[in-house]
Amino acid sequence: MTMLLLLAILAAPPRAMPGEEPVAPYGASDANAGARPFEGAGMAAAFHGRDGIGRIVDRFVAANYADPVIGPIFAGQDRVRLARVLKEQFCYILAAGCAYSGRDMATAHRDMGIQHKDMNRLVENLQAAMRAEGVAFAAQNRFLAKLAPMRPNIVSR
Ligand code: HEM
Repeated sequence: MTMLLLLAILAAPPRAMPGEEPVAPYGASDANAGARPFEGAGMAAAFHGRDGIGRIVDRFVAANYADPVIGPIFAGQDRVRLARVLKEQFCYILAAGCAYSGRDMATAHRDMGIQHKDMNRLVENLQAAMRAEGVAFAAQNRFLAKLAPMRPNIVSR
């Protein structure tokens, strides 16, 4: 019995990494990322691989926290975790070789009162971060098109 418990604990995915706040338990799965990955290596190359994705997410997260419109929604949320799982999500979708360990989009954004104007603002910040990394415009738009269907799960009705 003790052995089984130990095995179950060892097999369970980590829910909070060092420096992060604990979150309510959930089942980790790539399906939680909310989009299927691109085929082939082209999109990962367009985003300059995992290093480029890391730079984009760091810039994007910083812009969202500092934003006069949507900054208050991010204030007080776990920035360390957000940056980590966003890197995983983008890397997974861009087929740059990651698994996604975060929550699904509906759960992650529940009860935040996010409006369409907030979503538009966030997309502008993401566009600026991709532009700063030098991602080609067509690749930026292909990625945004992958994220667009997540909108109903994020914006409050
Ligand atoms: C397509 C658009 C979006 C994507 C792909 C996205 C992605 C994510 C991901 C992956 C997480 C982390 C999930 C986890 O901790 O397990 C997250 C959390 C969060 N998102 Fe978004 N998001 C989007 C839109 C937005 C918008 C529009 C806002 C607000 C303006 C927002 C605010 C937040 C906040 C505050 C958290 C932290 C939640 C917490 O720690 O409990 N997101 N998002």
